[in-house]
Amino acid sequence: MNHEQSKHAIPDLTVRIGSLELKNPVTVASGCFGYGEEYNEFFDVGLLGAIFTKAVSKEPRLGNPTPRLWETPAGMLNSIGLQNPGVVTFIKEKIPILNSLGTTWIVNVVGKAIRDYVAVVMEIEKAGGAPGYELNISCPNVEGEGMEFGKNPKVVEELFTTLRSITDKPLIGKLTPNVTDITLQARIAENCGLDAISVINTLSGMAIDIETRKSRLAKPTGGLSGPAIRPIAVRMVWECANVVKIPIIGQGGIVRAEDAIEFIIAGATAVSIGTGLWLDPDCPMNVISGISDYLARNGLAHVGELTGTANLDSAT
Ligand SMILES: Cc1cc2nc3c(=O)[nH]c(=O)nc-3n(C[C@H](O)[C@H](O)[C@H](O)COP(=O)(O)O)c2cc1C
Repeated sequence: MNHEQSKHAIPDLTVRIGSLELKNPVTVASGCFGYGEEYNEFFDVGLLGAIFTKAVSKEPRLGNPTPRLWETPAGMLNSIGLQNPGVVTFIKEKIPILNSLGTTWIVNVVGKAIRDYVAVVMEIEKAGGAPGYELNISCPNVEGEGMEFGKNPKVVEELFTTLRSITDKPLIGKLTPNVTDITLQARIAENCGLDAISVINTLSGMAIDIETRKSRLAKPTGGLSGPAIRPIAVRMVWECANVVKIPIIGQGGIVRAEDAIEFIIAGATAVSIGTGLWLDPDCPMNVISGISDYLARNGLAHVGELTGTANLDSAT
């Protein structure tokens, strides 16, 4: 196909995450789309590349006390606290819904100890399995002084190795940005045989009401998301892409197609939209069509041709 012809062809948006083929690179981020049941009134969720579910833990979790959300300049602080119905109810009530949505889904797994992650994955596997598992390592490890799993490379390695030994399904490590060097987690994920990494989870943040001098959230701190964190997320995707070959699912403040394209150029194979859904519930559809238009305009036949093409020699 010559350049003129390819300019007008419909670009191929399919991407691969391990053994999963996604119809396009646009997914919705964990915790921002429930279990997929609430958004059909806005758009056909079957058109998404994939759905990342809200966290699933071994036992049901009520989450943190309220207030748990606070709007910040160009972003949002949350301390939802991984509220979820637990794996048994997830299997019974949510998997049938997820299986009916017409796209693939990946379950976001959390735990207080490594054995909790194992229990969740084993339970789901016993019940027929999920298309893929995303391991959220931003939660506190109660056996490690309460520190986020992702902050201790040894614990990350043990967690990833253990989970890799119990399932052949696609395993995605959801990395925490609350570290000095995120590439450490990326390398561990690749070395442990994970299929992909999600970059990034929320950044730890805080907002104080100056009249009461209390936190705006019931907990002192929360996770910052939305456009405010996008430049940090793009930088972290780029850093990870420089050291690993496994696919990266970029996220942090994506609302428009331009935002998603920036992540792809930085090295992401796919992207996730989270807080953007609060700003514009239709935005995933606009992001899909905007990526397609951009590829066509630039004479690119496949979205993969754009991944990791940042031209940083000419950066100012
Ligand atoms: C309200 C809320 C709940 C979230 N819950 C989870 C979760 O359960 N598991 C997880 O791995 N990430 C969770 N996240 C993080 C998002 O999946 C995403 O990585 C992050 O918010 C950055 O993307 P965004 O700026 O597009 O929201 C949550 C984010 C928000 C805003």
